[in-house]
Amino acid sequence: MTSGNNMLEGKTIILGITGSIAAFKGADIASKLTRAGANVTVVMTEPACRFITPLTLESITGNQAVTSLWQETGGINHITLAEKADMVLIAPATASIIARLAGGFADDLLSCLVLATKSPVVIAPAMHTAMYENKLTGQNIQKLKECGFMIVEPGEGRLASGAYGKGRLADVEVIIGAVKLKLGVNGDLAGKKIVVTAGGTRESLDPVRYIGNRSSGKTGYEIAQAARNRGACVKLVTTAGLPGETVGMEVFEIEAAQDMLVTVRELVKDADCLIMAAAVADFKPEKPLSSKMKKSDRAVNIKLIPVPDILSEVKGKFLRVGFAAETENLEYNARLKMKNKDLDLVVANDVSGKGAGFGSDYNKVTLIYRDQTTKDYPLMAKSHVADILLDEIAGLF
Ligand code: C5P
Repeated sequence: MTSGNNMLEGKTIILGITGSIAAFKGADIASKLTRAGANVTVVMTEPACRFITPLTLESITGNQAVTSLWQETGGINHITLAEKADMVLIAPATASIIARLAGGFADDLLSCLVLATKSPVVIAPAMHTAMYENKLTGQNIQKLKECGFMIVEPGEGRLASGAYGKGRLADVEVIIGAVKLKLGVNGDLAGKKIVVTAGGTRESLDPVRYIGNRSSGKTGYEIAQAARNRGACVKLVTTAGLPGETVGMEVFEIEAAQDMLVTVRELVKDADCLIMAAAVADFKPEKPLSSKMKKSDRAVNIKLIPVPDILSEVKGKFLRVGFAAETENLEYNARLKMKNKDLDLVVANDVSGKGAGFGSDYNKVTLIYRDQTTKDYPLMAKSHVADILLDEIAGLF
């Protein structure tokens, strides 16, 4: 099945590359989309071919790059491409293509095919700051947004001219995140509001030290991404250091368990589901110091007190999903957690095994339901675990 994190598999994406210095990044985009299983055909404007060759893109995608309305491909280029596209992505998009699209022009292959397609269009502008900030460009971008095009805002930084400012092509990862968001809008979780927590909380000892844990935040992050890719409205409550893009998600960065509780309590008020993938501290220092604790050769006693249990504290009419990372008696402990925390679904995993759990990209989980049924899964990538979990959650909805 192609959902969530493997949603690009089998999708036909027309990648338009236009004449910006960032055209070389089109190769990276083409490569990442292709490696994710998409069938990518690159359409290049004439100026784009001055920056990067069609051969490069053909070698990466395995498909003929199309550079003109008149190129021999065995079809009517703009119509064939427009009809087979699941999505048209233009990255980088120059001020010129943006203006021509906003004006409804049909004066080259790319503009014709955008006019002819019924599929979603994502546009990632890249140009010099002055051109990007020009009122005309702003109006053109606004017009494209009103016509349903998705615009991936350029970033700030060093430009080809040596100047610094806004206009750099957005990060490739962010562009691909936007593609997934747009492709998944009508997925099986469309309209569902899902709150996901990720990462390990940090309990302050003094202004520079904290008590933390080994959670990388990958599991929660993969779940948030997969839910976004399936159309859910995702609110991600996370500790620092996310492993990737969060396009389309609302992100709340917190540190301590108490902050997570306050944020989650607010967010679940109108949520359909809470997925507590975060590794929340069980204890915190009773009295964190306001200045740095001085080094000493004597032992230090730190009194730890329990932190509130978030799942137990937040109530409401939403699906409640908890995690149980155990080193022994996996099922027994997971069931106990389900009862104590009033959960609909528990994702249990044995963190004593090698290659799974904390810090790893893989996990071996057992899903446990309220009605006592269980489902065992083999070791798999966390991105795959996220999809399986969301399949089950979609079923419970
Ligand atoms: O009790 P334990 O920490 O093993 O339970 C794990 C589950 O409970 C996870 O889903 C975790 O996010 C959640 N939890 C919580 N508040 C805490 C500790 C854990 O919601 N203070």
